[in-house]
Amino acid sequence: MDSLKRTKVIDALSAKAGQKILVKGWVRTRRGNKSVGFIALNDGSTIKNIQIVVDFEKIAEDSLKGITTGACIAAEGLLVESQGQGQSVEIQAEKIELYGTADPETYPLQKKGHTMEYLRGIAHLRPRTNTFSAVLRIRHNMAYAIHTYFHEHGYFYFHTPIITASDCEGAGQMFQVTTKNLYDLKKDENGSIDYRDDFFGKQASLTVSGQLEGELGATALGAIYTFGPTFRAENSNTPRHLAEFWMIEPEIAFMDKAELMDLEEDFVKYCVRWALEHCADDLEFLNNMIDKGLIERLKSVVNTEFVRLPYTEGINILQEAIKNGKKFEFPCNWGDDLSSEHERYLVEEHFKRPVIMTDYPREIKAFYMKINEDKKTVQGTDVLFPQIGEIIGGSVREENYEKLMNEIEVRNIPMKDMWWYLDTRRFGSCPHAGFGLGFERLMLFVTGMQNIRDVIPFPRTPNNAEF
Ligand code: 4AD
Ligand code: MG
Repeated sequence: MDSLKRTKVIDALSAKAGQKILVKGWVRTRRGNKSVGFIALNDGSTIKNIQIVVDFEKIAEDSLKGITTGACIAAEGLLVESQGQGQSVEIQAEKIELYGTADPETYPLQKKGHTMEYLRGIAHLRPRTNTFSAVLRIRHNMAYAIHTYFHEHGYFYFHTPIITASDCEGAGQMFQVTTKNLYDLKKDENGSIDYRDDFFGKQASLTVSGQLEGELGATALGAIYTFGPTFRAENSNTPRHLAEFWMIEPEIAFMDKAELMDLEEDFVKYCVRWALEHCADDLEFLNNMIDKGLIERLKSVVNTEFVRLPYTEGINILQEAIKNGKKFEFPCNWGDDLSSEHERYLVEEHFKRPVIMTDYPREIKAFYMKINEDKKTVQGTDVLFPQIGEIIGGSVREENYEKLMNEIEVRNIPMKDMWWYLDTRRFGSCPHAGFGLGFERLMLFVTGMQNIRDVIPFPRTPNNAEF
């Protein structure tokens, strides 16, 4: 069997008919009649299956017994023009080898029509479905597009630590990392835990963002980006939050607010355009099966200019809408953090295109954002997307040492773990800016999937760390 080299299904489907070919993969379906069997085989290289035709005069029907949905096989034969509809070529089987059976009684992926909830319960097998294999191929392509974009634009991939002692967002949503014996935790007279004998000699956590270290990179290499896992112990059970998600964080020296917004817009459009150009088959499948408006929405984002909207103007638009009878669940007065219903109203109903919202009230944003002259607002630049809400959080950074220190003190941020960050402002401080794109939020947009748990292979959410 293995004298021939294996051909991937994606290549077999575009190969010239008339040659001997060997394919290997998993059986999607098997059907047929008394004299002939048809096997639809998929090897993950493409959403498309290759059809294997088995003539029972050449291969005994009996020997196909174990070849049921989910089984793994190798098939060798002549590649011929297909007689049937829906495929250009098929294989006339000469030899079939069964690698692994999948008992029809117990294999959980019988044919079609499973709910997303059901599939989450079998996340170890769901990559074998059409939907998830399409999503995962697109996920790979998006990661590749991101590295390509930054590489082509002169950014350096900068690896920031996963384990850290500082809370970048200051929101206190960190997972602790410790080797202490939790069954025998000693506390001092104030009820505090002494971390001096812990692994790192201090309290440590999983990072919520690589930004602070990213700023160190930018103020040395000029322009860097991170692309790694980040962790948030926020108890948000929503279709848009994960406890472990991947974030892309570029950080650039000498960049101002206008340039930052240009970068955010150019970068997201590049990724979406990449998907349209490189993932056409998978997008077409998702457009048919998951979201009929998907491809049109992707094209429209690539072709429209994003709105640039100061927060204060956004609040005015929302209050005007309320006056005209629009009902929101949460209030939206100046100073409030916008909730996703507000963001989606602005993006989907009012402007009908992506919005970059800027100049937020100081109190609702992180300590590192550059304070405007009005002293009330900061130079944040979040990108809000249809269906998703916030896809990017970004800002110009406060580069003035005194102003930054003041913000750290006002917010009671523990100083002892911040000295190294403050050194960027003490030695050769420079204007700089950056943003964070939630990779899975981008994936939601590009695939049309409804739940963030379905665009990452193994989601981590409250009460769920299976697989
Ligand atoms: O707005 P965030 O919290 O910003 C930061 O972390 C900055 N330090 C980034 C920077 O400027 N370098 O998070 C950035 C993005 C959000 O816009 C969202 O897309 C995503 O990360 N995000 C999440 N994605 C999935 N699950 C969660 N729990 C997320 N929290 C944030
Ligand atoms: Mg944010």
